[in-house]
Amino acid sequence: MSILVRNAGRLVTCDPALGEGPLGVIEEGALVAVDTVITWVGRERDVAAPPGAIEIDAGGRAVLPGLVDCHTHLVFDGDRAAEFAARARGEDYRTGGIMTTVRATRKASDGELCRLAAERLDRFLSLGVTTVEAKTGYGLTPAEELRLLRLTGSLDHFVDVVPTLLAAHVVPEEFAADPEPYVDQVCEEVIPAARGKARFCDVWCDDRGAFSVEQARRVLEAGAQAGLGLKVHAEQLSRSGGAMLAAELGATSADHLEQATEEDADALARAGTMGVLLPGASMMTGAPFAPARMLIERGVRVALSTDFNPGTSYSENLQLAVALGCGLLRMTVEEAVLGVTRHAAAAVGREDTCGRLAPGLACDVLVLESRSEADLAYHYGVNLARAVLKKGEVVV
Ligand code: NIG
Ligand code: FE
Repeated sequence: MSILVRNAGRLVTCDPALGEGPLGVIEEGALVAVDTVITWVGRERDVAAPPGAIEIDAGGRAVLPGLVDCHTHLVFDGDRAAEFAARARGEDYRTGGIMTTVRATRKASDGELCRLAAERLDRFLSLGVTTVEAKTGYGLTPAEELRLLRLTGSLDHFVDVVPTLLAAHVVPEEFAADPEPYVDQVCEEVIPAARGKARFCDVWCDDRGAFSVEQARRVLEAGAQAGLGLKVHAEQLSRSGGAMLAAELGATSADHLEQATEEDADALARAGTMGVLLPGASMMTGAPFAPARMLIERGVRVALSTDFNPGTSYSENLQLAVALGCGLLRMTVEEAVLGVTRHAAAAVGREDTCGRLAPGLACDVLVLESRSEADLAYHYGVNLARAVLKKGEVVV
């Protein structure tokens, strides 16, 4: 089966080699895909559509790669609306709230957790998101973390799910007095069993309620040994050394970075470790925003994500992350759009398969309601997805 997307006022390839500017824009563009893969992009006047191709007329609108959300906590039960309301009355965010979600998640059946995750993926897809990274981290026992990883791997949805093991999310309350035995369990039982099931191993490194640099180092070294890519929740609540550790160990990404310094930025840039910024979490906890300009200007490659989770950022709206990136992190439209496409794909190890409209990549396509990708930020807070193709199939 082949597909022709025609009459794209702006075909935003997100590959500067294919068009104008950092977003590689082709005006009056078209795209051809055969089966699930893009085979051609260019000016519409040059297109040679395969006979019998299904035609999608973009009506002069902007056409982008399907969006990639590179940092979510997808699988959990329960909600923390009361905790949110308390914050709105002036309370601070505390990591202890995570145990509320852990207790609800441990009690939930496999079926219920999968149903909730599928509902969330439906919402992501309706907003133009075609790939989602999904972390465990609300089980916090070996059996529960491996259950969440198994359920994440079993999700059968149009949205591609990239599973990440975050068994070292916070110190579970049962180990509050002495976290070391829990770190031992994570390194010796959970991570080896996650080999081949998780794509990444993540750890929250923070002096306030999460893991120390030395504990995080053990977790990440065990992750690398099991063949997993590395990610770190770093410098979120306090500057604790997670970013330097991520750079030292050659992690794929360091995420959050609200408290990151110039020294952190230089180390990340030298190591080629990406920065994943999560402005929704700062906004909803009243915390400082990540120093996006400083990171970018010192050479860090930056992605943007929702940080979808029940504690700090309960939203599947990755389009809104683009608006917050521009409005609050002072990123340019081009930087923010790359942050949810090509750079986000790189942050989940998929730069060669999604995040760009380029020959050889998956035919994951977002047709916007509007004529310009700038509207993702400018016309903020509304869903601008008009049509979504996942692997060449029209799914929205
Ligand atoms: O990314 N930083 C760690 N984890 C989440 C918060 C999780 C929660 O509060 O449930 C985050 O913000
Ligand atoms: Fe997170």
